[in-house]
Amino acid sequence: MFDSGVGGLSIAKCIRQHLPRERLVYVADSAYAPYGDKGVELITERVNLIAGQLIKFNAKALVIACNTATVNAIDQLRAQIALPVIGVEPAIKPAARHSKSKKVALLVTSATATNQRFLTLVEKYSAGVEVFIQPCPGLVELIEQGKLNSRQCSGLLQQYLHPLMTQGIDTLVLGCTHYPFLLEKIQLIAGPGIKVIETATPVTRELKRQLDKHQLCAPEDQSGNIRFLTSSFTQQASQTSAQLGNREQYQLFSQLWQA
Ligand code: SIN
Repeated sequence: MFDSGVGGLSIAKCIRQHLPRERLVYVADSAYAPYGDKGVELITERVNLIAGQLIKFNAKALVIACNTATVNAIDQLRAQIALPVIGVEPAIKPAARHSKSKKVALLVTSATATNQRFLTLVEKYSAGVEVFIQPCPGLVELIEQGKLNSRQCSGLLQQYLHPLMTQGIDTLVLGCTHYPFLLEKIQLIAGPGIKVIETATPVTRELKRQLDKHQLCAPEDQSGNIRFLTSSFTQQASQTSAQLGNREQYQLFSQLWQA
């Protein structure tokens, strides 16, 4: 599985909980984080490179634990490789179903907000529902820097959420795997009347479904583990990762790839 940085840890945690016998390799492409302000060509190049290396590690399935990478690169990746590839789709379908006011908001990165695949999915699953797409530049950077409790982070959240609150939304989708780390703060600003939906559980369910379907589940007697690789080791990245509950150390994946 991979993400631009620490965001996919929200997905890794859920997979570890529900599929404890699986052996995971988590790649944080920290040298290129965030993906949210990058163009489709660079994102696709990084996705192909990382996926190619994970296949060399004998991966049996790939999880793109990043919304931006999913909407920009999953279709071309699926066309190239035979493994099951699971991505993080915007949870617009459950959100539209849940909403009583028929007004739903999605918090996403800039690269997701303008992506055609994403916009088509939103349109397809939101019939009869008004959807507010809110790009949130700056949030991923602050989370990567571990500045979850900073004034800057609260300021950005207020700036992005307040206009949505005046629109009468009752459902809010976290369309970036970094944002669940701000769930409490988001819920506090949104208030108890707004349901906040994230995507770790549906991704884990889909991974399990694919593993079952292709008879790829880990044997009953296997004990699972997780190994962390990064494209750029910095004190900051490992501190943030620890702050988000991950006690394991990262290894530089370029060293392994050259070996
Ligand atoms: C990013 O790297 O900018 C965002 C990751 C995501 O969209 O989940």
